[in-house]
Amino acid sequence: MKALITDHDFPDLELERGIFREAGIDLTIAQCGSEDALIEAAHGFDALLVQYAQVTGRVLQALPRVGLVSRYGAGFDTIDTAACARHGVWVANSPDYGVGEVATHALAMALALIRHLAIYDRDVKSGRWHYLSPGKIRRASDLTVGILGLGRIGKRFAHVARNSFARVIACDPYIIDGDFPAYVERVDLARLFERADVVSLHVPLTDETRGMVDASLLARMKPGSWLVNTARGAVVNVDDLLAALNDGTLDGAALDVLPAEPLAADHPLARHPRTLLTPHAAFFSTDAETELRRKAALNIVQWARTGRPMYPVVQGTRSLPR
Ligand code: NAI
Repeated sequence: MKALITDHDFPDLELERGIFREAGIDLTIAQCGSEDALIEAAHGFDALLVQYAQVTGRVLQALPRVGLVSRYGAGFDTIDTAACARHGVWVANSPDYGVGEVATHALAMALALIRHLAIYDRDVKSGRWHYLSPGKIRRASDLTVGILGLGRIGKRFAHVARNSFARVIACDPYIIDGDFPAYVERVDLARLFERADVVSLHVPLTDETRGMVDASLLARMKPGSWLVNTARGAVVNVDDLLAALNDGTLDGAALDVLPAEPLAADHPLARHPRTLLTPHAAFFSTDAETELRRKAALNIVQWARTGRPMYPVVQGTRSLPR
């Protein structure tokens, strides 16, 4: 059994080496930066452990031996799941390692926007010391927070945000009423953007959610609202977001994720005075990273032992030859 780590940005891979060594699985490590590099590196491997590498239909077509693709992360939009299903390739993710981290990061971003922390910080460091320097501030406990996508992270966000805001409302057409906590009011998409003072995005990136937060939704927001995105960058139309920041619909936007990462330092979002940016870091704490890496690797170990990964996203048909 041979596994390949296709790409990663961890400081070292001692954790993975230990897990695979103990399981008797041969591990090879690559840093594939393109589809072609991935195809070349992954020939002859049974399982792939991927971080950012794009696993496309062409990659799968070229790698008939690969039976499982395990992703470091909860999101799996870098993997063509439909093509995996067609080829009988299992897809697995690591869904629950950083739920608390992302939820608290999103809440920290929401409160930082409302309290104008980034503007205060910039002003104080440039010698401007006055509580009025960023302009008016509204009382958070009078505001409504809105959640798009009430899954694992959205629900945890609701839980940690509920004591800071007057109301929590959420839109998620794919879950039943019983899955809405009693303190979260169910609303539709239009009402979410009309009523919330701050909207926090927690939907996966899918064909339906790509570009979903666009000019028409943003136009529904009250002037001076806020947007927090810790989900996926491509859920938001960046040009429309910039327009909403410039016309005053949005007082501020906090973004952990962007359509193209990393963000160029001269990008208009990076230069904008009312954006708050973090480098796709919402998942991160030292403990969460360890859990993420363990679970992503154990998907492969469990598949090798039982024919089924720990957290399947796509049920495959390929198993190891016995
Ligand atoms: P989840 O699958 O538990 O929840 C997603 C929720 O979104 C589901 O309840 C689903 O019904 C809902 N949803 C799907 N389409 C929708 C739509 N069109 N409108 C409204 N709701 C919709 O996923 P989880 O674990 O909560 O993660 C959410 C996303 O957060 C991930 O897909 C990933 O992209 C992102 N993420 C970001 C991280 C970061 O470091 N910034 C780390 C981990 C996850």
